[in-house]
Amino acid sequence: MNILGIETSCDETAAAIVRNGKDILSNVVATSLKHHRKYGGVIPEIASRQQVRMINPVVRQALRNARLSWPHIHAIAVTHQPGLIGSLLVGMSYARALSYAFRKPLIPVDHVKAHLYAAFLRSPGNKPSRVRPPLPAIGLIVSGGHTSLFLIRDTIHVRCLGQTRDDAAGEAFDKVARILGLGYPGGPVIDRLARHASRTKRPPIRFNVARLPGSLDFSFSGIKTAVLYYSQSQRGTKNFDVQQTAAAFQESVVSNLAEKSFAACRQMKVPNLLVGGGVAANSRLREILRDRAKREHIRLSLPDVSLCMDNAAMVAGWAFHVFKRSRHNFQKSSDKGERQ
Ligand code: KG4
Ligand code: ZN
Repeated sequence: MNILGIETSCDETAAAIVRNGKDILSNVVATSLKHHRKYGGVIPEIASRQQVRMINPVVRQALRNARLSWPHIHAIAVTHQPGLIGSLLVGMSYARALSYAFRKPLIPVDHVKAHLYAAFLRSPGNKPSRVRPPLPAIGLIVSGGHTSLFLIRDTIHVRCLGQTRDDAAGEAFDKVARILGLGYPGGPVIDRLARHASRTKRPPIRFNVARLPGSLDFSFSGIKTAVLYYSQSQRGTKNFDVQQTAAAFQESVVSNLAEKSFAACRQMKVPNLLVGGGVAANSRLREILRDRAKREHIRLSLPDVSLCMDNAAMVAGWAFHVFKRSRHNFQKSSDKGERQ
């Protein structure tokens, strides 16, 4: 079964075709990042205008790359929440029109749950031996908009165990990068700087993350303010080092993410952990998770770095399982749509 996925929840316009919820036949992502960079964050109005411009070429490209045409597509999946309302509307309206015109069932998908699915996907270059992550599992989603822990019982039944009480982890990376004058988006640049910083010999700085004992919730607004005060007081002095500051911030955030994830595995007595979202691309987070997983005998599933960021393959992958279970309902509603 080939599902066309469409993702337009923020500043990426993405379309992908995934076969049987696993094999990526095409995965096209266009980003409007360069239009937002000078503002230091995503401007919703600009994002939705760019979605309108890009949606048609991106979907066509996904079909071309997969060497498929409409008769080979069995259903259309689209992100319907959460996200920027204007951007979401572009994808949803476009998908609805396609569903009506080509008489394909339409599957609405939750963006955060779709991120959980990235670890199940196989890109064209991947080894076929890569086995499907075992379930039940704990799922950590760390992105620019979300930081949450889930209990994933089977592919579509998930329960939220904890989430951020204020900033998402990626949002904290972006804001700290802004404080340090590193540009937008902050995650990749802090990751890169921190890799170099670890080889220097300066005494380490420490920033603390609120630990919220007894809870699987997160909080990152405090550490962001700590970096702000530190840089305001130290900037211009010989002690101030942007690389060290970025590395110290990153170390505390990723340690906290790992700490809570393994605590969730212990609490729920689940020996499997899977991770998704843009911050899951962070090299230090991946390293810490791998080390701890080995020590604590937890089976860790990390998606390819290319599938951590927003994409439509995860949307199509998740939709396959939803569709398989309730195909009858989707079939009925698309038949109704055809008659209207
Ligand atoms: O999942 P995503 O593409 O979009 C949302 O759903 O939010 O995540 C984007 C976020 C941004 O905040 C970006 O700074 C962060 O992921 N990010 C990273 C890295 N790459 C992207 N954060 C830390 N380290 C990275 N290497
Ligand atoms: Zn996302």
